Amino acid sequence: WLIIGIGIIALSMVITGYQAFAQGMAPPSGMETIDPQKVDQTTPFDNPGIFEIGENEYEVVMILQAFSFTPNEIEVPVGSTVHFTMTSRDVVHGFQVAGTNINAMVTPGHIQKISQTFDKPGEYLVLCNEYCGVGHQMMSTTITVK
Ligand code: CUA
Repeated sequence: WLIIGIGIIALSMVITGYQAFAQGMAPPSGMETIDPQKVDQTTPFDNPGIFEIGENEYEVVMILQAFSFTPNEIEVPVGSTVHFTMTSRDVVHGFQVAGTNINAMVTPGHIQKISQTFDKPGEYLVLCNEYCGVGHQMMSTTITVK
């Protein structure tokens, strides 16, 4: 049984290794990269904020850092489609929007993109759901849809 157990572990390591290296199936592949030391100097993060890019369409360029979201307090009209473009300045943070399916990991060195249409008015609570340090539980903001 021990030999079978070790054999299964070895086999899964070989398969994982093959997928990671030979097929390039690493999680960040396909994600744009960014130098986390130069977030403030790198477009579009040199100018974070909310931008109207079309009819009922907005782009939110957001920087996450311990323990806040920049911009803080986002407001969009009902029915808007919002494209979030996010990165982290320091450690891994989470971007979860209560009442929606948004639940993303924002890692330093990578640009995370996620879109959402807000059809219902209200105040949506945004939470960091990855432990990021002593102030983690205070890391939140809101998206107001009205
Ligand atoms: Cu950021 Cu927890």
